[in-house]
Amino acid sequence: MITKPIFGFSLLIFISFIFNQNICYAQNPPSITGYTCNPNQFNPCQTYVLYRARGPQFLDLASIGDLFSVSRLMIANPSNISNPNTTLVNDQPLFVPIKCSCNNINSTFGSISYAGLNYSFKAGDTMYDMSVTKYQNLTTYQSVEAVNPTVEATKIAIGQTIKFPIFCKCPTTRQNQPRLLITYVFQPNDNISSIASRFRITPQSITQMNGNNIKILDTIFIPLPNLPNLTRPASSNTPPPPPPPTAPAPVIQENDRKGTVIWLAIGLGVCGLLLILILGLFYKEKTVKREKYSDIERQKSLYVGSKKGSIVDKDVEVNLMADLSDCLDKYKMYKMEQLWEATNGFDEECLIQGSVYKGTIDGEVLAIKKMKWNAREELKILQKVNHGNLVKLEGFCIDPKEANCYLVYEYVENGSLHSWLHGEKPEKLSWKTRLRIATDVANGLLYIHEHTRPRVVHKDIKSSNILLDSNMRAKVANFGLAKSGCNAITMHIVGTQGYIAPEYLTDGIVSTKMDVFSFGVVLLELVSGKEAINDEGKVLWAKVSDFSEGSEERKVSKLQEWMDESLLREELTIESVVNVMSVAISCLNKDPSRRPGMIEIVYALSKSIDLFSDVSEEGLSPRQVTAR
Ligand SMILES: *[C@@H]1O[C@H](CO)[C@@H](O)[C@H](O)[C@H]1NC(C)=O
Ligand SMILES: *[C@@H]1O[C@H](CO)[C@@H](O)[C@H](O)[C@H]1NC(C)=O
Ligand SMILES: *[C@@H]1O[C@H](CO)[C@@H](O)[C@H](O)[C@H]1NC(C)=O
Ligand SMILES: *[C@@H]1O[C@H](CO)[C@@H](O)[C@H](O)[C@H]1NC(C)=O
Ligand SMILES: *[C@@H]1O[C@H](CO)[C@@H](O)[C@H](O)[C@H]1NC(C)=O
Ligand SMILES: *[C@@H]1O[C@H](CO)[C@@H](O)[C@H](O)[C@H]1NC(C)=O
Ligand SMILES: *[C@@H]1O[C@H](CO)[C@@H](O)[C@H](O)[C@H]1NC(C)=O
Repeated sequence: MITKPIFGFSLLIFISFIFNQNICYAQNPPSITGYTCNPNQFNPCQTYVLYRARGPQFLDLASIGDLFSVSRLMIANPSNISNPNTTLVNDQPLFVPIKCSCNNINSTFGSISYAGLNYSFKAGDTMYDMSVTKYQNLTTYQSVEAVNPTVEATKIAIGQTIKFPIFCKCPTTRQNQPRLLITYVFQPNDNISSIASRFRITPQSITQMNGNNIKILDTIFIPLPNLPNLTRPASSNTPPPPPPPTAPAPVIQENDRKGTVIWLAIGLGVCGLLLILILGLFYKEKTVKREKYSDIERQKSLYVGSKKGSIVDKDVEVNLMADLSDCLDKYKMYKMEQLWEATNGFDEECLIQGSVYKGTIDGEVLAIKKMKWNAREELKILQKVNHGNLVKLEGFCIDPKEANCYLVYEYVENGSLHSWLHGEKPEKLSWKTRLRIATDVANGLLYIHEHTRPRVVHKDIKSSNILLDSNMRAKVANFGLAKSGCNAITMHIVGTQGYIAPEYLTDGIVSTKMDVFSFGVVLLELVSGKEAINDEGKVLWAKVSDFSEGSEERKVSKLQEWMDESLLREELTIESVVNVMSVAISCLNKDPSRRPGMIEIVYALSKSIDLFSDVSEEGLSPRQVTAR
C-alpha cells in the first residue's frame, strides 16, 4: 500500500522529467501555416533570411529591397556587396534583414512568429505565386491567408496591401542558444552537411534545431553565433552598416539568473505629474555628477527615447497641483545620487527584471523601477491604494534631464508567483500556500474593486504580477501599467495574452469583471501548475469546459489527471481542489455579468481553506488524494 504510490510517483516524476526534456529541446514542428510561438516569452529580434537573386525580375538590390521594405544598403552590407548598384548573378545568395516577432492570429489558432512585410499587389500577382516565386517559399500561402483573415484570395485589388508573413524564429532564452537564427529554404541540391560546412557549424546543430526529417523546400533555421563573413569588404567606403543582429541580451540574462526575483513593479504613471511639478526645482540643480550619470544612462537606457516628456502643458500643470500636494507628503523623494549609489550605477548585477533594479538605501532593500514619465490618472489610483496585499510604493525620483522617473517600491523577497509555478525554483508550492496566495490576491482585488472610489481595475492580473514576500504572502504588483499602456502587447490591447477577458479583447470593455476573469486564470495555474498560455500559444482557460461537463466522478478524475503533479504527493482533500476549480470556472464565464464579484470569491475560497484544514487537523480523510 505504501510502496505502490511511491512507485507511482517515481514513475510520474520520471515521465514528467522526460516530458520536460522534450519541452526544452523539441522545436516547434514545421507547420504549413507557420511556426508557433508563445507571445509572453518571445523576444522580438532582428534576423536575416537567405534570399537568392533570381532573374529576370530580381537581379538588382533595389527590386529585392522593395520586396522586403529595406534599403539596398541594408542588403548590400551583410551580403558583402560593395556597390549597391551592381547587377547580381543568378542564384547569388543575399542576407536580407527582417524583424521577427510573435503575432497572435486568434485565440483558437494561437500565435506564430514571422516578419510581416507589406506588399502592394500588382497586376498578375496571386498569393500563391507570391509565396512560391517572389518570396521563394520563405512563407506559404496558407500562412498568408491566416494573417490576412479579411482578404479573399481571389478578390485582391491591384494596389491593395497584403501582409506577407516571412517565417522566422528568435533565439529562446531558455536554451543556451545561438544568437541568430537565419531563415533558409532547403534547396534541391542541398544536404545537411553541405549547409553545415558552408556556415561553419556542425550538422548536429542544424538537425537539433530543425529535426531529422528535412525535405527539399522546407524552411529551416540555421543557428549561428553571428552573421557569417559575407561581411563588407574592408575597402568599401559605404555608409554605416545596418543595425547589427541584436540578440535580446537583457532578457537572456534575466532568465539565466535562476531564482532571482522577477519583479514587475507597480507601474503608476505618477512620473509625468511629478516631473511637471519638480521640473523647475531640478533644473537649477544641474551638477557635474548628473551630467556623468546621464551619459551612462543614455547608453544603458532600455527605452527608446521619446522627448515629448519635456513638453509641459500649462493647463495640465495647474489642474494637477492639488493632487500632487497630497502625494508629496506621502512618499519619499530620493536623490538621483542615492539611487545611483544604491544600484552601483545601475549595474547589470543589480538588474532584477526589465528596468527594475534592486538597491539598498539606508539599509533598506528596495526595488527601483525606471520609467518614462507617463499618464496622469494613475496618480489618483496610487493615492487610494494602500493594502497589505498590494505592493507598496515607497518613493520616487525624477531625472528631468532624461525625462525619466524612478519609482521606488518595497522589495518583495521571494519573487513572482510565476517563477514559483513555472520557473526554476527547486521547491514546489504546497496546496496550503497556494490557497493562501489565492486568498491574498482575492483580498487585494476586493480592496481595489470595492473599497476605492472610483473603483480601480488592475487590467493586468497574472502570475508574474503577483509577488511573494518572505512568508509567502502574496502582493499584487504593477498597477496601472496596463492602463498607461506601457506593456501593451498589440497596438490596441493592453494586458497579457492568456489572461485577457474575451469581452475586452473583442469590444474593449473594461470592468472589474475583467480582473475576475484573469484571477480565474491564475487559479487554474495554481491548480494545474501549467502556464496561462503554452508554447503553442494556446490558452489555458480553453480547458475549463472539460471540467464543467459530465458526472461528478468523471470531473474529479479528470481534475486529478490535470492537477499539478506535486500536489498529488500531498495529503489534501480533493474537495478543496474541486471547490477552487469551481470558483475558477465561474470566474471564467464568457459572460462578464455571470462572473462572481470579489466578495463572493473571497467567501468561496475561505470554504476551500476550511475543507483543507479539516484534513490537516483530523488526519486522513477517506477521499484523500493519493498517487494514481
Ligand atoms: C548608384 O546609382 C546612382 C544613380 O543610379 C548613383 O547616383 C550612385 O552614385 C551610384 N552608386 C554607386 C556606388 O555607384
Ligand atoms: C505594414 O503596415 C502596417 C500598417 O498598415 C504597419 O504598422 C507596419 O509597420 C508595416 N510594416 C512594414 C514592414 O512596413
Ligand atoms: C517553392 O515551392 C514550390 C513547390 O512547393 C516549387 O514549385 C517552387 O519552385 C519553389 N520556389 C522556389 C523559388 O524554390
Ligand atoms: C482563427 O484563424 C484560423 C486561421 O486563419 C481560422 O481558420 C479560424 O477560423 C479562426 N478562428 C476564429 C475563431 O476566428
Ligand atoms: C552533400 O553535397 C555535397 C555536394 O554539394 C556532396 O559532395 C556530398 O557528398 C553530399 N553529402 C551527402 C551525405 O549526400
Ligand atoms: C569576420 O571578419 C572580421 C574582419 O574582417 C574578423 O575579425 C572576424 O573574426 C571574422 N569572423 C568570422 C566568424 O570569421
Ligand atoms: C567579399 O567579396 C569580395 C569580392 O567582391 C571577395 O574578394 C571577398 O573575399 C569577399 N569576402 C568574404 C569574407 O567572403
